Amino acid sequence: MASEDDSPKAWLYETPTSFLQLIYGDIIKESGSYYKDETSTLEETMIHNMDLCCERAQIKEGQSVLDLGCGYGAFILHVAHKYKTCSVTGITSSISQKHYIMEQCKNLNLSNVEVLLADVATIKLDATFDRIFAAGMFEHINDYKSFLRKISEWMKPDGLLFVEQLCNKTFPYQNKPLDDGDNWGEYVFPSGGLIIPSASLLLYFQEDVSIVNHWTFSGKHAANKLEELLKRIDAKIDAIKGIFSECYGSKDAIRFINHWRVFLITAAVMFGYNDGEEWMGVHVLFKKKCWRLWRSLV
Ligand SMILES: C[S@@+](CC[C@H](N)C(=O)[O-])C[C@H]1O[C@@H](n2cnc3c(N)ncnc32)[C@H](O)[C@@H]1O
Repeated sequence: MASEDDSPKAWLYETPTSFLQLIYGDIIKESGSYYKDETSTLEETMIHNMDLCCERAQIKEGQSVLDLGCGYGAFILHVAHKYKTCSVTGITSSISQKHYIMEQCKNLNLSNVEVLLADVATIKLDATFDRIFAAGMFEHINDYKSFLRKISEWMKPDGLLFVEQLCNKTFPYQNKPLDDGDNWGEYVFPSGGLIIPSASLLLYFQEDVSIVNHWTFSGKHAANKLEELLKRIDAKIDAIKGIFSECYGSKDAIRFINHWRVFLITAAVMFGYNDGEEWMGVHVLFKKKCWRLWRSLV
């Protein structure tokens, strides 16, 4: 279907999988969550979030589903399990993520999943899909216009694109290191900056896709998740020290733990600010633009 990029960047999305398993459990979803009520466990909020995404993206049996920046495959594994006749493809630039997903497919006996190791910004795909999904992915893309054009070419005529983002209610901005010494962000996110969108940012890029629906949800869902992850780090600190020592060396292990703790604390405060009404979650559903449809027919 596509040529694989055999030299993916060694980003910190290559975080040791055993660390992520320790704090997330079986469902490693590094994007939105949705707490049904106060008694929900982290795992239940992930499942609830993914069920909501399936419903809003109108996923049905028999469809082809593409997940851009699929991470550790939480969504593709969920869809492949829930809709046994869907064929599900994930794209990730991380070798360890691909290995993890393929391992999970074996454990769960799923044969309807394919994972492509590639950069979504440069990959060439011949196939088209019924549904395209992207959670926490657009934040890493600098050129929305070209990216959405490319995605529209991967959408079937009646295909839909569903995007999940964490955003600021009003203002988009770029998280970028200020100078060479300011590389904190690189311990958590890939270097090169991260776009924090506003809730409406994607709506300004409708040349190749048209809006179908748009939902926002309180930042408190993300704040709760981040606080829970922090509690789990603190509860398992010795095991994590061991994992990080093996991976980064004992001198850097504490540094990485501190980076994770600071990241989780600041992000939890940010998403909880103003009762979750300042930074929040957004879901956006697009269809293929009509002129693109017409173009593909002539
Ligand atoms: C915030 S995480 C979200 C992962 C996943 N969608 C989820 O919900 O758990 C963003 C993911 O995008 C992937 N990513 C970022 N830029 C990418 C690129 N240019 N090509 C492929 N994957 C990319 C990273 O590897 C990371 O797993």
